[in-house]
Amino acid sequence: MPIAAIAQREGTPVYVYSAETIRTRYAELDAGFGTYSHRIHYALKANSTFAIAKLIHTLGGRVDANSGGEIEVARRAGFDPDEIVFTGVGKSRAELELAVGLGVHAVNAESRGEFERLDEIARALGVRARVAVRLNPDVPAGTHPHISTGQRSHKFGIPIDEAREICRWAVNRDGLTLVGVHVHIGSQLTTLEPLRRAAEVAAEFVDDLTSLGISVEQLDVGGGLGISYDGSQTLTAAAYAQTIVQAVRGTGLPVVLEPGRWVIGPAGVLVATVVDVKPRGPDRYFVVVDAGMSELIRPAMYGSFHRIELVTPRITPPVTCDVVGPICETSDVFGIGRVMPCPEVGDLVVIRDAGAYGSAMASNYNRHPLPAEVLVDDGAWRVIRRRQTVDDMLATEI
Ligand code: LLP
Repeated sequence: MPIAAIAQREGTPVYVYSAETIRTRYAELDAGFGTYSHRIHYALKANSTFAIAKLIHTLGGRVDANSGGEIEVARRAGFDPDEIVFTGVGKSRAELELAVGLGVHAVNAESRGEFERLDEIARALGVRARVAVRLNPDVPAGTHPHISTGQRSHKFGIPIDEAREICRWAVNRDGLTLVGVHVHIGSQLTTLEPLRRAAEVAAEFVDDLTSLGISVEQLDVGGGLGISYDGSQTLTAAAYAQTIVQAVRGTGLPVVLEPGRWVIGPAGVLVATVVDVKPRGPDRYFVVVDAGMSELIRPAMYGSFHRIELVTPRITPPVTCDVVGPICETSDVFGIGRVMPCPEVGDLVVIRDAGAYGSAMASNYNRHPLPAEVLVDDGAWRVIRRRQTVDDMLATEI
């Protein structure tokens, strides 16, 4: 599907996703686990645009929600409460009431206080909340510090010894059913060792519970499987699955997975138009595009790398380009020192692998309207989110 045709009709910046890529990647991950009992709970936080959530639903996927908002989106996209797990540090009382009232598959609880609140809420509603304990395994993820979540210094989860005590307490509460053990140590992991270690710690914890006479239904190993942003070889779904299965097989428990980025990241590009080209020095240029950190914050926030390509290649000799956005922040940079043919004003560029944590993290900073989003499927494309207007932006303001 020619990107240029989409950009011409819908304007830029625009996110473009491939349904086929989402399907293929979902199927590949699913196949990696083969006959080992598993449930894929797609992490909505990576991209919860409504049509994407519905697509995951049609594939037989389930979801990991991180807020009341994501639970509501999941429900409207067709997910049953039993297809939702609810994870997140700092769930509000209203969010806990929503989850318990609906009867979600598991609330992955992150503190003793949260277990107590869940017990109280469930008893008041006359039900039992299905809870899993989120462990803090104290395993370094080896990824960017902003997205590492599995060490003692991080706010996530409960240290092992404390988690054991909480579980012993939880099994005697009328408002709680302890259904599982959960662990998630970070995102964009590109080596297997930390993932293996975290899964092993969770499996050892299950054994620990068994020896205390406590049984659970599932072991949730979170998300975190990384993708290649630069085109180099990286972890395969099969190798990941094999590692996880090896680590948890001894427990005999079904495994729950919460992949986000791996499924949706490579399925999306952000398309932008060059609005200015200005010299920065000899043979070096600032290439200013109409998308910025308001549309895709990852480079500014994590210094992350995304490939940037001209939609219609030019055959001029390559020069060094700093591809930047229009936002009034020096960090609003998509790529520094990219060697490419010098674009001209009006050229289209794609920023690759922007399907995950792209539109989901977009903002109205500098009063940029949220960009349009397009889904390509089966030789056709359709707008799945229209571009926000200034009226939309001001609609909630008084
Ligand atoms: N489960 C939990 C509990 C999580 O916190 C996350 C991501 C996932 C699953 C999905 O992880 P994934 O499979 O996508 O790695 N904005 C950052 C990433 C933040 C990840 C937050 N948690 C980025 O753009 O790199």
